[in-house]
Amino acid sequence: MALKDFLNVRIADLAVLYIKLHRFHWFVEGKLFYPLHAKFEELYDEATELYDEFAERLLAIGGAPAATMKEYLALTMISEEGNEVAPKDIFNTLIKDYSLLVDELKKGIAIAQDADDESTADLFIGTITTLEKHLWMFKMSIK
Ligand SMILES: [Fe+2]
Repeated sequence: MALKDFLNVRIADLAVLYIKLHRFHWFVEGKLFYPLHAKFEELYDEATELYDEFAERLLAIGGAPAATMKEYLALTMISEEGNEVAPKDIFNTLIKDYSLLVDELKKGIAIAQDADDESTADLFIGTITTLEKHLWMFKMSIK
């Protein structure tokens, strides 16, 4: 896949993840409602920052970011199905989604380097570091 197309799929993933994190923020249930409600807000704020950063990187290299929900749903690899409300189910879903993003971004590093674009590779590496830290915490929270 060409780097610009790859970036657009990740932009779609982050847009869908942003909506999905709002769903968890709104509908999480149980004794941990308050801390999890706040944590999911933190995570959707981070997702929207990454979404914007990826889109503006695509613009900077001469591409055009997808910018409609219709395009995002056609492009994304993140499933928006489900109505999880229990913390454990939410974290299992987030582990699946964040792992998918990390796996894809690892492939993206090679795609960016093949296009002689070390800056985009660097963006991917930094994002992987951030997402892997969340993955560690998600896994610890359901032990
Ligand atoms: Fe809110």
